[in-house]
Order: sequence, then C-alpha cells, then structure tokens
Amino acid sequence: MTQSDFTKKSTTEAGAPRESDAHSLSVGANGPLLLHDVALVEKLARFDRERVPERSPHAKGSGAFGTFEVLEDVSAHTKADFLQPGKKTQMLARFSTVAGELGSPDSWRDVRGFALKFYTEEGNFDMVGNNTPVFFVRDPMKFPDFIHSQKRMPDSGLRSNNMQWDFWTLSPESAHQVAYLMGDRGLPRTWRHMNGYSSHTYMWVNEAGEKFWVVYHFHTDQGVENMTNEEASKLAGEDADFHRRDLFDAIERGEFPSWTLSVQIMPYEDAKTYRFNPFDLTKTISKKDYPLHKVGRFTLNENPTNHFAQIEQAAFSPANTVPGTGVSPDKMLLGRVFSYPDAQRHRIGTNYNQIPVNQPITATNSYDKEGAMQYHHTGNAPVYAPNSYGRAYQDTQGPVENGWEADGEMVRSAYSLHAEDDDFGQAHTLVREVFNDEERERLVETVVGTLIPDVVEPVLSNVFQYWKNIDQEVGERIEKGYYEQSGTQVPGGDPIDGEPEAIR
Ligand code: HEM
Repeated sequence: MTQSDFTKKSTTEAGAPRESDAHSLSVGANGPLLLHDVALVEKLARFDRERVPERSPHAKGSGAFGTFEVLEDVSAHTKADFLQPGKKTQMLARFSTVAGELGSPDSWRDVRGFALKFYTEEGNFDMVGNNTPVFFVRDPMKFPDFIHSQKRMPDSGLRSNNMQWDFWTLSPESAHQVAYLMGDRGLPRTWRHMNGYSSHTYMWVNEAGEKFWVVYHFHTDQGVENMTNEEASKLAGEDADFHRRDLFDAIERGEFPSWTLSVQIMPYEDAKTYRFNPFDLTKTISKKDYPLHKVGRFTLNENPTNHFAQIEQAAFSPANTVPGTGVSPDKMLLGRVFSYPDAQRHRIGTNYNQIPVNQPITATNSYDKEGAMQYHHTGNAPVYAPNSYGRAYQDTQGPVENGWEADGEMVRSAYSLHAEDDDFGQAHTLVREVFNDEERERLVETVVGTLIPDVVEPVLSNVFQYWKNIDQEVGERIEKGYYEQSGTQVPGGDPIDGEPEAIR
C-alpha cells in the first residue's frame, strides 16, 4: 500500500467503503449487535487470526535488508555467480535468540542466530548460522531434545537450569558449545557487535568441477563487544527489546552495520585425513591449518517497513543453495535441510516462497502447484513432466557436481573418529588457551550462578565432573564456588562457613 492510499477512506477487505471504524451496528444506541455488520464481524474474525505460530527455536529476533559485495577473487574455488569478483547482491539478515519465546528479553544468555538470505540471480542462497562456530549436538536426532531442555518444564511452564544442565552433562559432545555460551560471547552487547559463523562445513565447486570444503566466517566490522551478567539482567527488565531497538535505531540514524565475510577452504581430499572430523559440528577447523580467505562484505542499510510481513514471515533455510555451493556430509546439516522448509510450510503456509520477502528475484518454473494461498501460477501450461507441449523438462543424470562418495553398512553411529576427535579436547583449548584469567574467572562465576538455586542431584555432581573433564582446575573452582555461594555442605566433607546442616 502506498502512502497516499492510507489517507483515503477506509474500506472492508473486499474494498467497499466502511461506514465506521469506531461504532458497531446495533438496534438502537443501547441495543443488541447485528450479525450482518460485515465490518465488525470481519474486524474481529481477522483479529482472532492475527498470529501465526512462532518459530519453534529462534522465535525472538529481528533484522534488516542490505547489500553484499564481493571484494576479492574466489573464482578459483567457486563458480557461484553471486561470489564472483565485484558482484553486488541484495540480501536480508535476521538475528535472534534460540530458546526464548516471541516476547522474551534479548539479553538472556543464549546463542544468537545469524540468518542471511542472498537474493542471487541463480535463486536464493541462505546461510543460516549462529554467533558461535560450533553447536551442542552432532546428530539431528538429538536436536528436538536439546531445544526441549532449553524451553519450559511440562508441569510448571517454567524454564529450568536443572533441565538444561541435565541434557548437556548427559550429552558430552555439548562441552565446546557450552564453554562458548558460558563465556563472554554468551552475552553479545548488540547484534551489531557479534560475529556470525556457518558453523557447518559446506561445499564450494569451481567452474572446472573441483570441490572444496568451506566454513563461512562473518566478522563484525563494529568489533566484538559483550555485556556483563549484571548489565544483561538489568536490561532484561528495563528494555526486553534492547537488541531489536539497537539495530533499528542504528540504521535509522544512518549508521549502517557491516560484516566482512572470510572463508576457510579445505581441499576436498583433506577431509578424510584431517585431525578433526570437519563434518562434526561440535568441532572447529583450526585457522592455523586452514587460514581465512577474505571474500567480501555485507552492509545492512534498510529497515523493514513491516516487521510481520518482512521479518516474521521471512523463511531462511540451509536447503537454499545455488550452483557452485552445496551442503556436506555433516549429519546435522542434512537434518536441517529437511526441517526448515517443513517448519515453514506449517508456520507460514505451503506457498511461503511466494511472499515478497521470500520470493527469489529469478523467475521460478516448478511443477509443484496449488495449496493454500497460491498467488503465482503457470497459467494453462502443462502441469506434468515430461510433456509434448514445450514446458521445460530437465533430466540430468549421473553424479551431481556438489555431491560426495558414500558407502558402507547402514548403521546408527557417531561419525568415524579422526585422530584428535573427542568431546572435551577443543572445549579445553577454548577455556585454557583462548580465554585469559579474567575470562575464566567470569566463566566460573557464570556457571556457578546458573547452578544456584535450582540444580539438584544427580545433575549437580554431573556438572562438576563435566567441567573437570573440560578443565580440571575450572571444574574444581566451579564446585568450590557452588558450595561457598550456596551455603550447602560439601558431601562427605566439612561444612562451609560453619553451616551445620546440609540444605541440599
Ligand atoms: C531456526 C531446526 C540446528 C540456526 C530453526 C527453525 C527450525 C530449526 C525448525 C525454525 C524455522 C522457521 O520456522 O522458519 C533445526 C534443526 C537443527 C538445527 C532440526 C539440527 C538438526 C541449527 C544450527 C544452527 C541453526 C546448527 C546454526 C548453525 C538457526 C537459526 C534460525 C533457526 C539462525 C532462525 C532463522 C530465522 O531467523 O528465521 N531451526 N535447527 N539451527 N535455526 Fe535451526
């Protein structure tokens, strides 16, 4: 609707003039209302249906439109049109928290979603990542359980640290991501001040058909900044929408945030023998082994004009790849490729790709048809393929260009182990070699804070052991800090602070 339309007389949805936006039709001024007051019935019925289901994870978020520009030549590694030198592509970004519901505070400690949609001339390319380079689990079978443990208790409807720690400690592959989350980056100051990562390893294919494994890193040009636990809890009360407001206001002021895209590139054959499994989402690939190559930059310069239409109804999906790009054997990624379009058919509707924010800039020509709210159609063109009447029919056979080899027995199993694969090694490196003394101190404080008062046995002991497995000293400090601050008794040990009773 254009601005001038707003000022015209209001209408019903069928376009007839409305008599009143303020008074319903009644029999006499104090009399009963009439069912044939079409305007009232329509208004209430539409109001009753205003909400669509919120995203199951990542419900609370917001975003903006922008432009991605390629600044370096990576054509030796990918033929993707939007990644060719000098190319500029319109895009959309949406940032989010994972566990909270639609109205939840932006400043709760959580991983942040970092979802990008590039409207390329070869179709939409989406990169649906997070602000951390790893994840809590490595098999999609566990993802719903992980999300359930972060959401609410079945009886009280309350969130529960006990439930979160129970899942994490019984899923030791979570250690690396949990160490990130409990560290300073678990509370980014704003969305503008955080990095984004594909987390998964993806594929690139060049013009000659050579394949490479790539990890995408989006480094904030604003610099990484985080907030303290105190600042975050204060903001949760004072301004639950702090991150949403910050991004919107910055763009309104003309301060356009930007992120530089670099990729780690691994030759296809290296994946088999690399010291870590590059398709295990709980691991990072060392930058010493595979350094970053700069690709380009995206800048967000345009706010949505309608949050619901352009952000709430936006549908990002790792299934959206373009020629020259592809997915990988990462089981989590393969699970996601199914889950997102499926969620969106339910959340938004079968024809969600026909909504302007999701619609590719390229013409579509699909034999999928009809369903609720179909808008684009192919007229009277044949609705089946092959056909004798000229409508396109593709049937390329043989190996696909962005595929990989697979064979073996059908099994239910973790990945085959590479030389240095384990659950705690990279988490230990993060806590001991990447974090400094102050960061480790804050990590201990944060973890202890999450344990009091609601984490109980047997989860509590599992938490202490989990952290000792990550780093013996940090684990001991967490245990000591817990008993000091909770005033409870060390099992089998001396009471702390003269407290005679165990209050556990
Ligand atoms: C949102 C499933 C893992 C990042 C979602 C949604 C689903 C989902 C169903 C809601 C989609 C919608 O309604 O539009 C899964 C499953 C996973 C998984 C099944 C594992 C098997 C991950 C991982 C990342 C991630 C590893 C990051 C690397 C996101 C983001 C969103 C999201 C950023 C919000 C997208 C937006 O802004 O609309 N996920 N997810 N997810 N997920 Fe995942």
